[in-house]
Amino acid sequence: MSLLKKVQDLAGTEPVQAALVLGSGLGHLAETVDGVSIPYDGLEGFPHAGVSGHNPKLVIGTLSGARVAILGGRAHYYESGDSGVMRPPLDLMRDLGAEILLLTNAAGSFRPDIPPGDLMLLSDHINFSGKNPLIGEQTDARFVNMTDAYDPALRAALTEAARAEGVVLKEGVYAWYSGPSFETPAEIRAIHRLGADAVGMSTVPEVILARFLGLRTAAISTITNMAAGMSDEAISHEHTKQMAPVGAAKLERVLRRYLATLASQ
Ligand code: HPA
Repeated sequence: MSLLKKVQDLAGTEPVQAALVLGSGLGHLAETVDGVSIPYDGLEGFPHAGVSGHNPKLVIGTLSGARVAILGGRAHYYESGDSGVMRPPLDLMRDLGAEILLLTNAAGSFRPDIPPGDLMLLSDHINFSGKNPLIGEQTDARFVNMTDAYDPALRAALTEAARAEGVVLKEGVYAWYSGPSFETPAEIRAIHRLGADAVGMSTVPEVILARFLGLRTAAISTITNMAAGMSDEAISHEHTKQMAPVGAAKLERVLRRYLATLASQ
């Protein structure tokens, strides 16, 4: 049986309006969906998301009136060395009818005006890893136009949702660093000079894949720390997991408000 059929047998065939990928410490939103929950283990090709703080299940149902599919956990390039590891889940999102993909992540900030606990809407990215999930793709569709990869209309709608919720949502450029080690202070100074405002270990390969698949994409970071060398606080995964819920509560409100607007369109 195809993966799509298997999932539709469980969740129904009604097309989903938006797909979401939840980053470190942001899994709570999936718990509030009225629908079905399918562990990644039962889904062929899905990664065994092995990072603590992630919740590896697919949830399909209704959230704020919109039909959504939520990927509760992502696999990262640094887990396997495969930057295309999220392709099967994203293929499925498109097959389920999603036209919009909203990505979330935890990130370190370079900007004192976007401190830990704040949210940053991605305006663009810098692929500092040099890896690309489309390497090996044979069709000409691999030459993806990445101008406006972070969809301007979606960004405007998310900015409006944040305003309506009274949540400060700044915009900035996200740099993808492969991880899993954190960056050195010298690397952070270098990436900052290249034009990035925040750094993290995810999202960029998924945005490249999403654009390849024709999905409209937007991404929001919850800032968990100032980047290496920019503050005295010690950077660690424990700290990321502790800090992610601070921004996550605001992020949930913004996403819910946005989905309610989408549902009413
Ligand atoms: N660097 C990379 N990834 C991150 C960071 C960071 O400082 N904070 C949260 N994820």
